[in-house]
Amino acid sequence: SVNPDYDLSTPIDANATGLRQKLPGYGDAHFSLFMRKLFIKALGYSEDALSRPIIGIVNTYSAFNPCHSNVPQLIDAVKRGVQLSGGLAMDFPTISLHESFSSPTSMYLRNLMSMDTEEMIRAQPVDAVVLIGGCDKTTPAQLMGGISANKPIIHLVTGPMMPGNHKGVRIGACTDCRSNWAKFRAGTIDIEDISALNEELAPTGGTCGVMGTASTMACLLVALGLMPLHSATAPAVSSARLRIAEQTGTHAVSLARSRLAPQTLLTRASFLNALTVLQSLGGSTNAVLHLLAIANRHPALAGTITLSTLAAIGRATPLLVDLKPSGAGYMTDFHAAGGMPALLHTLAPLLDLSALTITGETLGAALSTFRQGTFPQDVIHPLTNPLHPSSSLTPLLHGNLGGTALLKTSACATRYHRGRAVVFHSASDLAARIDDPDLDVDRDSVLVLTHIGPVGGQGMPEAGVIPIPRKLARQGVVDMVRVSDGRVSGTAGGTVVVHVSPEGADPKGVLGVVRDGDWVVLDVGRGWLGVEVEEGELERRRGERGKEWERGRGERGYRGLFLREVNGAEEGVDFGFLTAGGPGGGEGRTA
Ligand code: FES
Ligand code: MG
Repeated sequence: SVNPDYDLSTPIDANATGLRQKLPGYGDAHFSLFMRKLFIKALGYSEDALSRPIIGIVNTYSAFNPCHSNVPQLIDAVKRGVQLSGGLAMDFPTISLHESFSSPTSMYLRNLMSMDTEEMIRAQPVDAVVLIGGCDKTTPAQLMGGISANKPIIHLVTGPMMPGNHKGVRIGACTDCRSNWAKFRAGTIDIEDISALNEELAPTGGTCGVMGTASTMACLLVALGLMPLHSATAPAVSSARLRIAEQTGTHAVSLARSRLAPQTLLTRASFLNALTVLQSLGGSTNAVLHLLAIANRHPALAGTITLSTLAAIGRATPLLVDLKPSGAGYMTDFHAAGGMPALLHTLAPLLDLSALTITGETLGAALSTFRQGTFPQDVIHPLTNPLHPSSSLTPLLHGNLGGTALLKTSACATRYHRGRAVVFHSASDLAARIDDPDLDVDRDSVLVLTHIGPVGGQGMPEAGVIPIPRKLARQGVVDMVRVSDGRVSGTAGGTVVVHVSPEGADPKGVLGVVRDGDWVVLDVGRGWLGVEVEEGELERRRGERGKEWERGRGERGYRGLFLREVNGAEEGVDFGFLTAGGPGGGEGRTA
């Protein structure tokens, strides 16, 4: 029979769907479609299959990514959902990032993953895309790319791992990785214990089982409207996770039909809801960087969601969710307590329920299909009995040292401190001197670490939890004020000020010219981080240092691109040219 697709007198619409979209340049459009069809038929597809809405499924399986170990089963389940709903499911790979296998830092590679994701969504004839991710940097990278490509997207997370067990005590990556390693270093547990712990801290595939970055981002994807409300917390190894995957496939086919794209779905209200959820979770500091980067990819929102927005939301939002590191429990406890639907019901008075979700329903309508949590549980606290009254995450936006900086106040007790700086100029300087018995430091000192920022540290290593100098640790000191331009793991606690910007490597900043003995003041209530040094003296020190910042000069490849183009922590550590405020970004390149 004759295929009308090759009838040269029938024009091919530039806004077409399925195989007709974004045809490659093989001369004329009919020939391009002819070529595309003959190649895909090599895989055995029929004309019927090829006439369906095409749902792309991003495959981020990697042997180096145990957090994504269930991706093959998830893809099968998504395909089932897509094909039961009349779509054609096509999976394709992008790079995959695991925290422990992303040298020098996973943050260094996040923007690369976002570019890979964006360009593959643009390049291929997909009507909607299921973004399967989970480990810390993967979901934000996928969303950044997805917003920029602006085809309909829906997220599916791999889900948290189960907790393990050591001598009858529940344990899990990765708050307990750090605390047990500290005990081993201090000699309170022995090498047999630490060896046994190593076997049990990650007892199943899936993402870290506490409210670290991966779990925080999963909850924020729900708050933003980009995942079904119940889909953040089901364990990676559960049958519930597979049913969520099947439903995600069904939703993706509806999205292909509604053509609801992320730049339309996401509004200011979506981001304010996400910030409210973040504050109520005592979520990861890394999530702040990601949300800023994500908002700055949106042409209508770039530059409007800032650390001041986070501060304002924080003042009105209590900490409600009792999970490590801000609290006690594991993700399985949050899931059993009703997960995100239960939290959203509790937070409803603080949310904008008119924000859209991927089904096209409002958040309020989606929430009304879940019964309000009525059984007694102690994981999600009511608004009337919070774990911490407000501002779990406090931006420090005043004072000469914190142009901008961030402190997770729900995971520390300090509210005001004035102490003398002990300055380390790099991670290796720190390693060389922190345990030196002659180090001039006492319990009131402020430990300052510079050159672990976006440029100076190649993507902000999670080195902000400066260890307590051993001679003080032996005296029982467990917390000190620590200040750096780096990051901390979402699973860490303590009075750890991070993300100081301008970073130490930036010649116009103050952090890079702080000296031993300078008085440093942290005032959480005022959002203040300052060094008591006259501006004239700071200027003199900056002058001594030289003003030119040779970012990435003489560096090749991705490393050169990263060092030259990365923006500051207050903007999300994205590449300026990828943001909606960057070149050509305002108009939004057409997909
Ligand atoms: Fe992947 Fe923690 S290492 S989520
Ligand atoms: Mg992490």
